[in-house]
Amino acid sequence: MGLTVAVTGPTGEIGISAVTALEADPKVDRILGMARRPFDPAEHGWTKTEYRQGDILDRDAVDALVADADVVIHLAFIVIGSREEAERINLAGTRAVFSATIDAKRPTRMVYTSSVAAYGYHADNPLPLTEETPIRGTKEHYYSAQKAQCEEAIADLVAGTDLELFMLRPCIVAGPKAPALANAMPWNMLPGIATSAINAVPGLKVPFPDHGVPVQLVHHDDVAAAIALSATTDAPAGAYNIAGDGTVSLTEIVDALGGRPVPVPSSAVKIAAEAVKRLPFMPSFFEWIHIGRTSVVMDTSKARDVLGWTPQFSAKDTLEALAYARKSAE
Ligand SMILES: NC(=O)c1ccc[n+]([C@@H]2O[C@H](COP(=O)([O-])OP(=O)(O)OC[C@H]3O[C@@H](n4cnc5c(N)ncnc54)[C@H](OP(=O)(O)O)[C@@H]3O)[C@@H](O)[C@H]2O)c1
Repeated sequence: MGLTVAVTGPTGEIGISAVTALEADPKVDRILGMARRPFDPAEHGWTKTEYRQGDILDRDAVDALVADADVVIHLAFIVIGSREEAERINLAGTRAVFSATIDAKRPTRMVYTSSVAAYGYHADNPLPLTEETPIRGTKEHYYSAQKAQCEEAIADLVAGTDLELFMLRPCIVAGPKAPALANAMPWNMLPGIATSAINAVPGLKVPFPDHGVPVQLVHHDDVAAAIALSATTDAPAGAYNIAGDGTVSLTEIVDALGGRPVPVPSSAVKIAAEAVKRLPFMPSFFEWIHIGRTSVVMDTSKARDVLGWTPQFSAKDTLEALAYARKSAE
């Protein structure tokens, strides 16, 4: 008898690839997915997956989702949205999913996608970051702060229970089916103006600062493989950093995604981050400038040596695959 796996957020950038990996895993018999919008698993050729519409803030819906599960994978999250909406869904929702799973008794394992952002963008972070590095978040960057708060809340909820917790900490996820990195570039956020139209005019490419900080990327299929492996493996539970081999520079990212990289000293990014911190009504997008403050390159040897995860795509491969998909779609 194979596993029944419940997944919150199966329709997101990571969710689609994660469910696809679970569908292909012979150890998994049944997948139960829940998110808020309508979705048809058959359109993806999925045969083991049953989908229901529901909100992780609705405790009855979460109880019903996890009741028959052996493993619960919690992916539902607001990654880019307003601070208020994100706080409501991310903190309360994560608590609800963990509490319901613990109360349900049947599930023995949870897989949660935290993030490299949970470590926070601190100048005194060790490099590379290992799973032993303290989870401190960066309070001015709400996504980072909430990821750290969620890990703290999860640790409190799970303490004293028998639940096996696989706490994955991926870097930025990208690839043809995960375009958020490209969509978050300022020139792609301009309403009604296509990148191709901007790029067609010489000298019109939007400038973007490169402060020299290396960036890790992981392909959506590799992060999906790590999630599916965590759901089924005999490897020990615990925290695992997840990133593809190597790094890319912001210049490479900006070049590949249609902007004009402009080298700037890292001190300029720190000044900009301080200025953004002081704005009374800060658009949530600008909080992402904190990412440029300092390197958050992670050591992924634990995921490779202990979890047995082997990424197929390097950071460069992942960027190329994203850029190629984007150009082909234009
Ligand atoms: N993408 C990255 O680069 C990255 C990197 C590291 C870690 N992560 C983490 O990985 C997880 C998944 O990220 P993602 O990129 O796949 O996010 P995503 O593309 O934004 O997808 C979010 C998913 O959650 C669902 N959802 C949102 N609010 C919900 C609610 N209240 N109730 C039920 N479902 C809800 C969404 O569907 P509906 O809107 O239809 O409900 C969707 O299925 C998150 O925890 C994220 O922090 C992501």
